Amino acid sequence: MPTRFGHFDDEAREFVITRPDTPLPWLNYLGQDDLFGLCTNTGGGYTFWRDAKLRRLTRYRYNNVPLDVGGRYLYVRDDTDGAVWNPGWKPTKAALDSYECRVGLGYTRITGARAGVSVSQLMFVPPGEDVELWQVTVRNDSERTRTVRLWSFVEFAFYEALNDMTNLQRTLSIGEVVVDGPAIYHVTEYRERRDHYTLFGCTRPVSGFDTSREAFVGVHEGLHEARVPAAGRATGSVARGWNPIGSHEVTLQLGPGATETFAFVLAYVQQGEPKFVAPGVPDTSAGAAVLDRYRQPGAVQEARERLRSYWDERLSAFQGTTPDEHATRMLNTWNQYQCMATFNLSRSASLFETGIGRGMGFRDSNQDLLGFVHMIPARARQRILDIAATQLSDGTCYHQYQPLTKKGNAEIGGDFYDDHLWLVLSTTAYLKETGDTSILTEPCGYADVEVPDGAGPSASLLDHLETSIAYTLAKRGPHRLPLIGHADWNDCLNLNCFSTEPNESFQLAGDVADSQAESVMIAGLFLYACTEMAALYDHVGRPADADRMRAAHADMLAAVEEHAWDGAWYRRAYDAAGEPVGSHLDDEGRIYIESQGWCLLGGAGADNGRARQALDSVAAHLATPNGIVLQQPAYTRYRLELGEITSYPPGVKENAGIFCHNNSWIHLAMCRQGDGDAALASYLSVCPSAKQDQIDTYRLEPYVYAQTIDGPDSPTFGQAKNSWLTGTAAWTFVVLSQGILGIQPGYDGLRVDPCIPSGWGGFTVTRRFRGSTFRIRVDNPDRVCQGVARLVVDGVDVPVGPIGVPAEPRVVDVVVTLG
Ligand code: GLC
Ligand code: GLC
Repeated sequence: MPTRFGHFDDEAREFVITRPDTPLPWLNYLGQDDLFGLCTNTGGGYTFWRDAKLRRLTRYRYNNVPLDVGGRYLYVRDDTDGAVWNPGWKPTKAALDSYECRVGLGYTRITGARAGVSVSQLMFVPPGEDVELWQVTVRNDSERTRTVRLWSFVEFAFYEALNDMTNLQRTLSIGEVVVDGPAIYHVTEYRERRDHYTLFGCTRPVSGFDTSREAFVGVHEGLHEARVPAAGRATGSVARGWNPIGSHEVTLQLGPGATETFAFVLAYVQQGEPKFVAPGVPDTSAGAAVLDRYRQPGAVQEARERLRSYWDERLSAFQGTTPDEHATRMLNTWNQYQCMATFNLSRSASLFETGIGRGMGFRDSNQDLLGFVHMIPARARQRILDIAATQLSDGTCYHQYQPLTKKGNAEIGGDFYDDHLWLVLSTTAYLKETGDTSILTEPCGYADVEVPDGAGPSASLLDHLETSIAYTLAKRGPHRLPLIGHADWNDCLNLNCFSTEPNESFQLAGDVADSQAESVMIAGLFLYACTEMAALYDHVGRPADADRMRAAHADMLAAVEEHAWDGAWYRRAYDAAGEPVGSHLDDEGRIYIESQGWCLLGGAGADNGRARQALDSVAAHLATPNGIVLQQPAYTRYRLELGEITSYPPGVKENAGIFCHNNSWIHLAMCRQGDGDAALASYLSVCPSAKQDQIDTYRLEPYVYAQTIDGPDSPTFGQAKNSWLTGTAAWTFVVLSQGILGIQPGYDGLRVDPCIPSGWGGFTVTRRFRGSTFRIRVDNPDRVCQGVARLVVDGVDVPVGPIGVPAEPRVVDVVVTLG
């Protein structure tokens, strides 16, 4: 279904944007390991190494006017009339005869043409390298020989992004570059404390260069009227202080129909010792070697092929075909792709996250793992250990940490009383995926415990899990429900803060003394975690510990059923004064989504009809055609005792907006109730691929989930915000793969227990699991939602249950009949 702005090319795994003036800039990411780039459909964005805050290579001014200027630009000068244009339209916005942006897996290809010249720019980071390549193809589509002159452009950042923007009295004096033919080296601070620099090179000979922003752009000019392209000649400027940039001038003579292909190479280079070839002269040999490598014929193309196989390999772990076009496309390609982005970047760098404010979140990264672990289990393993090491010995966790240092951020600290429990979910997901119980005894100490030299940390990952369970048990309030601390999953429900000062954080500005505010959502999450821990202990042959977890579950469940049921749904919390939150007793915020999701997933309401009733209440009070809103009625006035949630306009974000992340929990609960029709329909209401016919309202990328969509209380109902870096990615993948299609990794093998729409006649999935490939066909002759009537493995009828993993990896054929 093509729209005004583009369409999916499912075969190529691309979204094709067909006009540059999208409702908002539409983003893609380059990179999969350490070097990452943000790249919009007009070439906007920046590049960083590992940490968007501490190692930013190129500059980008967030929320600029106009939006999204600054990036990987090519300027082209028309040899007939001297007009300057960009194949990606920006920054000149000169009219193009044609424009196309192909958003692909780890790459973006922008092609623009004007007056008989076409320029295509394919940008990507080869797997395993700290190199960003722009393969440029220039083609003369006219009938006469053309002289095409073209300039590259990036603006270098001084690595530490916040300092780069704020400490101008220093930064404007330190800029330094070295130019060596087509190689431009940004070497600021290399003289003293840095052992790395940035290379920006060109694989073909250049006819000029610039490295001073003032020389290339001007002082009073904007990027759209940069001086050098307008004048038609590079100046050979060498930056001293001020603002270094990288720009090459390339001059091509192209006969009719002729094409030339070359590349620009942007690389993060760690030079190693010795740093200098002579006093004060940087050794740039490592950078020169990178450029040389990509000068070899076929090298760029070979890197491109490697990227393609990288993604083919990752995605082959889960591929399916269902009767629903949107679900199939998201499941096979875009949802998994987005899971990789959230795994790599957590909530750090997008068009809504500036790469400065937040590093990796404890709760966020644990949840992100749920959608990633099947792709690269080894990286998931390391991540779990890194995250666990930011937990303190008393059980609390640093809420965020910096990826470069892996150290917790002291400004935010801990005391979000849900954080630690997510570690149980990520660890057990890893165990079920891999069967690798060795991770449990892996030493990973606590962030506050000094380890003497030579001695490894004494705490194991399993100790961390126990500490997490114990922490919630120890921190309970008057209703025996878990205390909430600064906040639980909902950062904006701040029951202990009572903030009256505009300049303070809603979460951190001092907690009410001896507050007993409790969270029903954490109670539900705890129930779920206990069930996971019990299953884990059963699996490793520790029945007494499993029973201990079941007892903890029963005890908390009793508290939930006794104190959290409001009559038709589960309450959300008890505030510092002991008043219920999310209750019919209130005039606003009477029913919340999170506690319905988590109480049901934790097993509450299963035997007493409340689960069904809670879902009916969600349908009656919270569901909309654009997803399920977070609570109702929206808060219309600031309530000191509830905090930030009441600060947002009605219908926006946590205040009765549609927070797509938590919709997934309801979808999973619907699957548990066997309601596959409701689960898919509700999933589609937040699915970006299904938003194409309302794209003028929705506005964001149709290929990745957004964090929020405005709810009906907002005048812009249906408008999305904050795409890409959201827990929605991981959880919707769990919904689609494990909930609806029911392909569930387990300790004893792979279970297939779908909960599909009754209209589906079946579906197929190929799932790689512990080395073997399971080719699964599900038939639904009786058009039911749920219930496996027959299981045939490799042609043999077997009892319905987990399908064991073969000792030697092979293909396993599975046919499931529902009924
Ligand atoms: C953001 C935060 C996440 C939080 C959610 C709800 O997505 O990254 O940690 O749970 O908002 O407030
Ligand atoms: C979440 C909320 C945001 C809040 C932030 C604080 O992202 O959505 O509104 O300010 O958390 O951590």
